Amino acid sequence: MVSTQYKSRGIDQALADLEVCYHAANPKSRGCRDLARRVLPGGNTRAVLHYDPFPLFIDNASGSHVRDVDGHDYIDFTNDMTAGFYGHSNPIIFAAIRKALDNGISFGGPHSHEVALAETLCGRFSSIERVRFCNSGTEANLVTMSLARALTGRPLILAFKGGYHGSLMSYTNINAGLNIDINNMRFADFNDADDARRALVTDKDRIAAIIVEPMMGSGGGILAERSFLFALRELADEFGALLIFDEVVTARFSPGGLQDVFKVRPDLTSLGKSLGGGLTFGAFGGRADLIDRMDPSSQNALMHSGTFNNNVLTMIAGYTGLTKVATAEVLMEVNDRGDCLRSKLLEISTSRGVAFTVTGYGSVLSLHFQAKAPVDPSSVTTTAAQRKLSHRDMLLRGFCVPRRGTINLSLATSDEECEAFVHAFAGFLDDHHHQLPAIL
Ligand SMILES: Cc1ncc(COP(=O)(O)O)c(C=O)c1O
Repeated sequence: MVSTQYKSRGIDQALADLEVCYHAANPKSRGCRDLARRVLPGGNTRAVLHYDPFPLFIDNASGSHVRDVDGHDYIDFTNDMTAGFYGHSNPIIFAAIRKALDNGISFGGPHSHEVALAETLCGRFSSIERVRFCNSGTEANLVTMSLARALTGRPLILAFKGGYHGSLMSYTNINAGLNIDINNMRFADFNDADDARRALVTDKDRIAAIIVEPMMGSGGGILAERSFLFALRELADEFGALLIFDEVVTARFSPGGLQDVFKVRPDLTSLGKSLGGGLTFGAFGGRADLIDRMDPSSQNALMHSGTFNNNVLTMIAGYTGLTKVATAEVLMEVNDRGDCLRSKLLEISTSRGVAFTVTGYGSVLSLHFQAKAPVDPSSVTTTAAQRKLSHRDMLLRGFCVPRRGTINLSLATSDEECEAFVHAFAGFLDDHHHQLPAIL
């Protein structure tokens, strides 16, 4: 990186310059993408991992590092979009998985491992009296929303603009994409309880549930205000709707998730990502009287099934991670490390006069090139070009970061690696502050 070369250039030119460097550094990734494109649209099967001109193809990973097919080593601050919470190949979880492989991986019958994980989740989340497993966060939300409709006999779900509850429920652009059942959705502004009330009044007796992320993840790492979540609890009770917390991302913030931090008790909770110990995972749970309606031995049980719901490896990896690795102390430590990184990033951006803010919570940090922290997705003013600039630049400096700007720490991320990130980000700001908004 050359610190003066980008001075007085526009952001488009800076991006073009970085793109040349990126092409030169990553011929094998480009080749892999070209081959992949023949069978996968765009060479991709997970849209969030796509970025232009082509994404790095990863060859292997261990601890806090990933290595790409061109042989570059990166410190990983993507960590599989928060699902890689334990770091790559956590030895304790790996030992448990290896042992499990010798005993068979697909039993086709109930087994003690699912009971152990269920007991662990019920023990950690005070609102979860019963739990059931599925295969992804998307699926968990689909089921909780369907369950709410079935139990209340009401057709509508109230969600929040800019929220994300899975690939079929992505509300940044409500009418786009593959969103399902959109006519039976209603939307209010995040962190605006009055707007939620208006929606409930408008569709009185027709809203089955309010679904909310206690921190909007893909919406920009925007934390719900505590008073907002309290108000939603009260509104749900007042209007006879159920309250669903989507804690697919936020469960990692404390043993009992963000609901425990905020002390707000939802009726139902959706889980996923990191709680599966690095394997494919989804779960939902909540009040016993609600989830028990799925008890297949009861009359008129609500049918809920799924071939891999009790996947042996996932149950073991999830249980091992939660009981042997992710103790309350460890969670606090990684959150503290994230907070420390947050304040250092703010420090270096302020000293360079760049308008910059970091939202998120603990070990999940959303970087925005704007002075004011967004309170809902509509107040995110950072442009796609600014995100692309920092993404491209940080990749070239050896840091695997996501295009959308939300980085996260795994349990394998060290203090030294956070320091290295700060140093690299300072280099990025030194080179590119001309193309970023200034503090006024
Ligand atoms: C808040 C939230 N809910 C649900 C999901 C969907 O989970 P999955 O990708 O496992 O289907 C995600 C994924 O990013 C998420 O961030």
